[in-house]
Amino acid sequence: MRAKIQPMPQVHICEVGPRDGLQNAKHLMPTAAKKAWIAALAAAGLREIEVGSFVPPKLIPAMADTAEIVAFSKGISGLKVVALAPNLKGFQRALEAGAHKVTFPVSASRAHSESNVRMTPEQMVEEVRKCAALPHRGVEIEGAVSTAFGCTMQGAVSEDDVVRLAAALAEFCDGVALADTVGYANPVQVKRLFGKVKKHIGEKLEGAHFHDTRGLGLANALAAYEEGVRHFDSSMGGLGGCPFAPGASGNVITEDLVFMFESMGIATGIDLEKLFEARKILVKAIPDEPVYGHTPVAGLPKGFHAAQGGLNTSS
Ligand code: COA
Ligand code: ZN
Repeated sequence: MRAKIQPMPQVHICEVGPRDGLQNAKHLMPTAAKKAWIAALAAAGLREIEVGSFVPPKLIPAMADTAEIVAFSKGISGLKVVALAPNLKGFQRALEAGAHKVTFPVSASRAHSESNVRMTPEQMVEEVRKCAALPHRGVEIEGAVSTAFGCTMQGAVSEDDVVRLAAALAEFCDGVALADTVGYANPVQVKRLFGKVKKHIGEKLEGAHFHDTRGLGLANALAAYEEGVRHFDSSMGGLGGCPFAPGASGNVITEDLVFMFESMGIATGIDLEKLFEARKILVKAIPDEPVYGHTPVAGLPKGFHAAQGGLNTSS
């Protein structure tokens, strides 16, 4: 029997559950279960996973095993292993562990920045600049402008501030992402802000990171797609949220995001049935944690066909 050929992805999904999800979960996931979950996510076709963060273990105990998780994940062929770092020390730990890509949260809201990383946005830009100036052997650096669409502490966030931060980060980061940390964005705002930032930094604007706090996660992802975005973060079961942003809740749900794109004929390279298998591992590992998602509950529609876009049928 011929092996099933996965189409070339037309959108890239980075699973952030092991980091954004578990940092905010009430229950700790044992290291062995994290490894099994990450392996199952990769087996489902996820090619990029944010596996943890290099923050002080005292601050977020769920991330204490990140170096071990990075080492394990690097053994999975074809997987881009991403870790979050909040400062120089975190970046050095990420380099030592061998992460392929490091994401820095740079909040556009002054209040959130000070609560999250104890630095102003400007100080945080300088911290990332210092990291980028160190030798880093091809490790990708992403600057994620968090609270780009509003903040539970500060309220409105100025779009000019977001553009200014994105432009500063684009000088020395490989890519820049816009993050709706607390789920304030709407599709019109998403198109406007991605459009504005793109005018300033062009192709350096890569990723979209949405939270589903008010149910607009998928609508916002689609709006970003229509604006040309092809890299999305999402979290299995809709886990997630920043512990230092009051009212933050889960990310856009990976299972539903994959279903949306695949049913539209846009290939993600991810197999939904295998994704549901990975979800079982998550649920078993932290059974008391609420997990969300429509598609895994309803199942795939009768006669559903995954997207074939980009598939080289002659091979
Ligand atoms: N990893 C491990 N330890 C770290 C560290 C890191 N990245 N950064 C600092 N530390 C240690 C220091 O060595 C110091 O240890 P000591 O008390 O034994 O001397 C201690 O933590 C305090 O260091 P300091 O530089 O004063 O940090 P801080 O207390 O001002 O906290 C951050 C600043 C950035 C480390 C912290 O706010 C943070 O980790 N924020 C990220 C929060 C997060 O993950 N949010 C969700 C994702 S967006
Ligand atoms: Zn997030």
